[in-house]
Amino acid sequence: MWQFNSTIIMTDRSFFTQNLLKWNKITNRRIMPWKGEKDPYKIWISEIILQQTRVEQGLKYYQRFISSFPTVSSISEAEEKHVYKKWEGLGYYMRCKNIIHTASHITRELAGRFPSTYDGLLALKGIGVYTAAAIASFAYNLPYAVIDGNVFRLLSRFFGIDVPTDSTPGKHLFGELAGKLLDKKNPGVYNQAIMDFGGTVCKPVPDCASCPLSKKCVALKKGLVQNLPVKTKNITRRKRWIYYLVIEYKKRLYIKKRTASDIWENLYEFMPIETRRQTRIPNLLKSKAFRDIFTTTGYEVQKISKVYEQQLTHQQITGQFIRIRTSDSLPLGEYALVTPKELVQLPFPKLISTYLKD
Ligand code: ADE
Repeated sequence: MWQFNSTIIMTDRSFFTQNLLKWNKITNRRIMPWKGEKDPYKIWISEIILQQTRVEQGLKYYQRFISSFPTVSSISEAEEKHVYKKWEGLGYYMRCKNIIHTASHITRELAGRFPSTYDGLLALKGIGVYTAAAIASFAYNLPYAVIDGNVFRLLSRFFGIDVPTDSTPGKHLFGELAGKLLDKKNPGVYNQAIMDFGGTVCKPVPDCASCPLSKKCVALKKGLVQNLPVKTKNITRRKRWIYYLVIEYKKRLYIKKRTASDIWENLYEFMPIETRRQTRIPNLLKSKAFRDIFTTTGYEVQKISKVYEQQLTHQQITGQFIRIRTSDSLPLGEYALVTPKELVQLPFPKLISTYLKD
């Protein structure tokens, strides 16, 4: 097990920080709109987006979101479904819910002013240690080190640390190390540099040949690059099969807003039939769940979609869409009938929005 050895850390620390900052200065990297940004609101949004998607993909979401909601108060004034619509496809909708909540809190309770201290930021719903450190250092140049997946990977490899990053000792150790390495005079520039370095050089499959830190990288010396970082938890994914009934009645479609507090809370959906295993469509149409909905014969199955797959952190979802036209209105209390034009304004889980785009 890796031990904290302060003499090694002291000598390698200056090599690490100096070379990282040198790399940051001379490398001609992508100019991203959040670099050098000082507005805490924009930093907040960019960091939440970048926690769940790669920089290249995050860019278009960030631009779309900020052009619709350029200030914190613009979110609190907007209709909730419009905010979700701009988040559609990003996943982790709880984060969008927290953004709406916190934007309204800042507008109403804090007179529209973003907190300017680390503790003040941490007190906000949806802002944890990572985001608080990012906003504090980028917006206010406060000396807090960010630790995200990129930083864990880089530090564990460079210093050869095999303590699991998701264990309590690991979190303490990496937190302490990251704090020691931080350039206290320029924490914002340093934090941006270390995240960029992890995202472009010390990637999961790294570019060791062009790495300016390779000379002292412990993992490279010991052949452990692919073994680090270590995590304790193996993610197991629950398998789900969801068959959506896209029911049309008089050129309108039945949809429902989800209220269950799960990963898709506040998004919309067609009527789902979830089964415990993959089911052939003819069998599904004979199932009790289906017959409970269609008690009359006044319907026609028009089209069966291809199979859609979506992998989430803890779930593997397979979905299929069955387009049905009915001549009788159905007694579906929670469902509303919407026109195709209204439909495209609403936020949906990715599986459904992908189907709608097809
Ligand atoms: N990942 C998360 N935040 C980032 C940032 N500000 N720059 C680059 N990669 C990031």
